[in-house]
Order: sequence, then structure tokens, then C-alpha cells
Amino acid sequence: MSEPKVWAKKSTFIFAAAGSAIGLGNIWKFPYMVGENGGGAFVLVYLLCVLLIGLPVMMSETIVGKYSHGNAIDAISKTAERSNASQWWKGTAVLGMITIFIILSFYSVIAGWAFDYTYNFAIGEFTGKSADQVGKFFGDLLADPKRLIIWHSVFMILTALIIARGAQEGIEKSLGIMMPVLFILLIAIVGYSMFATGKFSQTMDYMFSMDFSKVTPMVVINAMGQAFFSLSLGMCVIMTYAAYMRKDVSITESSIYVTGLDTLMALLAGLAIFPIVFANDMNASAGPGLLFVTLSTAFAQLDTIGLVLGVAFFFLVIIAAVSSSISMVEPFVKWCEERFGVNRFVTTFVYCFAVWAFGLISLFSFNIWGKVDVLGTGKNPFDLLDFVSSSILLPLGGLLVALYVGWGMSKKISREQLFSLNGFFFGLWLFVMRFIVPVLILLVFVSSILGEAKMNAIINQIAAYF
Ligand code: PHE
Repeated sequence: MSEPKVWAKKSTFIFAAAGSAIGLGNIWKFPYMVGENGGGAFVLVYLLCVLLIGLPVMMSETIVGKYSHGNAIDAISKTAERSNASQWWKGTAVLGMITIFIILSFYSVIAGWAFDYTYNFAIGEFTGKSADQVGKFFGDLLADPKRLIIWHSVFMILTALIIARGAQEGIEKSLGIMMPVLFILLIAIVGYSMFATGKFSQTMDYMFSMDFSKVTPMVVINAMGQAFFSLSLGMCVIMTYAAYMRKDVSITESSIYVTGLDTLMALLAGLAIFPIVFANDMNASAGPGLLFVTLSTAFAQLDTIGLVLGVAFFFLVIIAAVSSSISMVEPFVKWCEERFGVNRFVTTFVYCFAVWAFGLISLFSFNIWGKVDVLGTGKNPFDLLDFVSSSILLPLGGLLVALYVGWGMSKKISREQLFSLNGFFFGLWLFVMRFIVPVLILLVFVSSILGEAKMNAIINQIAAYF
């Protein structure tokens, strides 16, 4: 048998998994979710979700991938065979691949906005614009399918070019450049926010003062969903990267690093953005427009510094997005390559073209199809795809991974893989995977299907019994 393909450097798994995890979820979504869900309360609950659910699930996916050194479908198949478990568990990986196909299709459209912003900041288009004008700029961008298609295409081509070159030549080498640039840019912007705006303590207060009255069930649910999305869990992405892991790398340690880095970057994104927003007397709870309207308006008011900050910031968003998108293409390409022996280059481009074409559905939902109501759901095609993938398929994938590793797969495999854990921590990990994680995910799952109003009604009813 040929030697399994592994990363050239020991640290690459951490870099690669962190690159996957750190993305639009950290820089775009996390800050606006903090704003929408009551600041510090959300941050605290999010941190708990990461520690209690994120870390153990990250370790689980890594175990399966590292054990088998193959694509996610075969990885599950191989571990299931050793465990005398049903081959049906492979469905977990299939579901994961379907989920990332959908997520990538609109992820690319949104990443495209960052390209447009980087370009327009660079040519000085934003300089001096008022809040209304920036709002109009954003509205005009979304209303213009041609402009969106150009950037959506650029993003998918870039992703394909990296993946087509292979795990070591493409992923490992590109991440070696992208990740340091990402850290440096973010730290530079946090530095600016910290020293130049005078709003740092207000931000610390906003993000870290724990007002427990704001912790509603919905805040918990949103935080958990965000933890899964941000850590790239439940889609066999981490499992796929773990297949390239070297034998001498510890799963526990790596998982702690990746989870920690992802969380750190989300918090830093908040520390970079909120001071600038506060310094301009703007509203932190602007929702998805927080970066593209609120923060951009703040940059627009800062003349030359604003131009530099704008370019740096949106370039940072692009890098974070590319390092995540490549991880969404790799699982399928690796599977095709290993299963059918097909050419990697061709597979990558065909797959990326399919994602690109499917992405047009979301792209048109921001303009010509904006008012289309799919099957009477009250959602346009993009909203529906976002809801189905992020709120249904994602938790479902997470649940399946937890059930498989906790119950389906033999304990022997995990015990052997988590060799660096002592008996107590191994027992704790297994307990969490078997009982805590499935119950919590099930809760998110049911509530996201029922919706906020019904969920609150049920919780109130239960509370009334006590
Ligand atoms: N974790 C990435 C982010 O935070 C998104 C992602 C989702 C990446 C699913 C891979 C798989 O933006």
C-alpha cells in the first residue's frame, strides 16, 4: 500500500483547520450577532457553546479523519467496519457534502461583496460618503446582478485554482501565506481601534459585561448555531483535513488550538469593529449591514486613513473567506479522486462550476428574485437556502457526527486516538459526546424548525410548571 498523503509540516493541520474555521462567520457574522443578541450575554453563551460542544465535536471529527487517512465517506466506512457498525453512517458524510455545496454557493456571493468593497475603497469611491450614500452604494451593489456575477466568479475561480493544485502544493502553501497576513491585518486594525478611537473601554464593556437578563433561549440557540458554523463542524470538513494529519500530531492539542484561534479571531473582529462604530455614534445592532454599511460609513469619514483601513479590512475578509472556501471544496474533490481515480484539476473545475451555477440562485435573490416566495414559505430562494443549510442541515450533520462517534463507532478507536488524554478526561469527553452534545443539538434543531415564537411559548409553558 502506498504511504498516506500527509501535510509536510507538523503545524499544518492547525493552520488548515483554523483557516477553514476563521471566515465570514468570524468577521462578518459574529460581530453582528453580538450586536443583535445583546452584547456580552451572547459572547458568554457563545464561549460556553464552543467549550462544551465545539471542542468535543472538533476532536471527534479529527479522530475519524486521522484514523483512516481517507476522504470523509471512506473514513466513516472504515471506522464503521472496524466497529461492526452500520455502513449507513456514511450518510453523515454525504449529508455534509450536500450542506457545504449549498453553503459555498452563497458564501461565494457574499465574499464577492468584499471584493467589490476592497476595489472601491482602493479607488477612493467611498471617501467622504455619508451613511445614506454608503447605504445606497450597498443597495446598488445588491441590485446589480452583473457586478455580483463578476465577483462571485472571481472568488470561485480563485478557490478552484488553489484546490486544483492539491493538498500540499495548493492548500498548504497558500495557507502559509494567507494565515499570517490575516493575523497581521486583524491585529493592526485592532491596534488602530484600540488607540485611535478612544472607545476601547466602551467596547470591552459592551462585549464582556455579562447581563444575564439578556440570556434568552433564543440567544442560546443562536450562539450554538454560530459555534457550529464558525468552527466548520458537522460537515466533515475538519474530518477531511484531519486525514492529512501526521501521526505525531496530538488530536487534543490541535483541537484546542484550532478552537482557541477561531474564538480569538471572532473576539478580535469584535474589538476591531465596535470601537470604530461607537466612535462614529453608530448603532451596533445593524444586523448583516454592520460591515457593509455601518463600518464602511465610519471608514468613509476618515479620509486617507479610512481608505487604508477600508482596503485592509475588506482584503482581510477576502483572505478569511478564501481560506474557508477551499475547505468546502476539498471533501468532494478528495472523495472523487480516491474513489474514481479522476483527474483532480478537472474534478475541481467541474465541481466549482456547479457550485458557481447554483450560487446564481442566491445571487438573483438579492435583486430580480428578491420577492419570489418559494413554495409559500415566505422566504426568497436565498433565505430558504440559508435557512435549510445553516439551521437544518448543519445541526443535523452535527447530531449525526455526535451520535456516530459517541455511540456508533467503537470506543477502542477513540481511546487509541486520544492517547494523550488521561482516563478522567477521556471519560468526560465520551460522556459529553454521548449525552450532552446530542441533547443540546436536538434542542437547537427543533427550535430552529419551530421558530422563535412557538419555542418561547413552549418554554414559558414548561416554566409555568415550576
Ligand atoms: N467556518 C467558516 C466561517 O466561519 C465557514 C465554513 C462553514 C467553512 C462550513 C467550512 C465549512 O466562515
